[in-house]
Amino acid sequence: MKNLNLLNFSSAQEDDRTLILKGLINKNQKTINSKFFYDDVGSELFEKITKLKEYYPTKAEINILEKKFYTKQFLSESSSIIEFGSGSNKKIKKLINGGKNLKEYIPIDISKDFLYKNAKNFAKIFPKTKVTAICAAFNQITEIKGILDKKNNKIGFFPGSTIGNFIPSEAENLLKSFSLILGSGSYMIIGVDLIKSKKVLENAYNDSKGITARFNSNILRSVNSIVGGKLDKKNFKHHAFFNDKEKRIEMHLISKVKHSVNILNQIINFKKGESIHTENSYKYTLEGFSKLSKNSGFRISQILKDEKNLFSIFVLKVK
Ligand code: AVI
Repeated sequence: MKNLNLLNFSSAQEDDRTLILKGLINKNQKTINSKFFYDDVGSELFEKITKLKEYYPTKAEINILEKKFYTKQFLSESSSIIEFGSGSNKKIKKLINGGKNLKEYIPIDISKDFLYKNAKNFAKIFPKTKVTAICAAFNQITEIKGILDKKNNKIGFFPGSTIGNFIPSEAENLLKSFSLILGSGSYMIIGVDLIKSKKVLENAYNDSKGITARFNSNILRSVNSIVGGKLDKKNFKHHAFFNDKEKRIEMHLISKVKHSVNILNQIINFKKGESIHTENSYKYTLEGFSKLSKNSGFRISQILKDEKNLFSIFVLKVK
């Protein structure tokens, strides 16, 4: 396909191994970084989550995107849209209203096969749009900036409240990086999940079909393939709850039995009932996220909410 360019900057396995081991030998709280959810199986499971009746964020965000409030204001035929963590490209299609005349679409994602598959699909459907898929983690700023510096009229797109998967100080750094990558005067569109009743929040992460539980335990499979380990999902159970104080959903895998696993020649001991913290999903107030955006080099252009006030989209402009 002439309009398709696939680039790979995925991080060295060595760094990932160190990160995994460091998280599992932590004495206070074992952790696995949530980026490891998204191997091919995890990405497919996440797609399933977005279709669950309990998982409101995707539906609420699409409800806002479908209003096409902004399209005429700043989205032109010469725009290059950079989607951070592109997933299935479903939302970009909503954003660009069919996208027939978009100059360039640049999806960036850590899950290579999933990214390439969806980029190919997008390039086929929109033959006039140049598609440059970049396999990289969000923190690989230098590599990404190297490609993007040559583009004009850049619009960043970070949907799905993925920003919520970072602790606020990291979220601020990430937004600062986005503002640097995009450059002064560029727009950035970000999906942000809002604080709401504990019941609605907790149901979204404890669905009745058990897909979120499968997504959570799949992280063990993903980690095993990187470190050559034998973490067994049968020994763990899914646990997700809203932490009121921190304003975040926490996902954990709780060890059902006392057991030990050898990871990179280190014995990791699990007590019965001990957990591995696998994810944070922060929820914001409009004021809280406005403050974070302003601290990160943006000014606020528009704030939109869905009809049920569950979710928000911030349209920001780099100062
Ligand atoms: C990708 N991210 C915004 C999702 C979330 O809601 O934090 C990941 C997820 N974890 C469990 N369900 C969905």
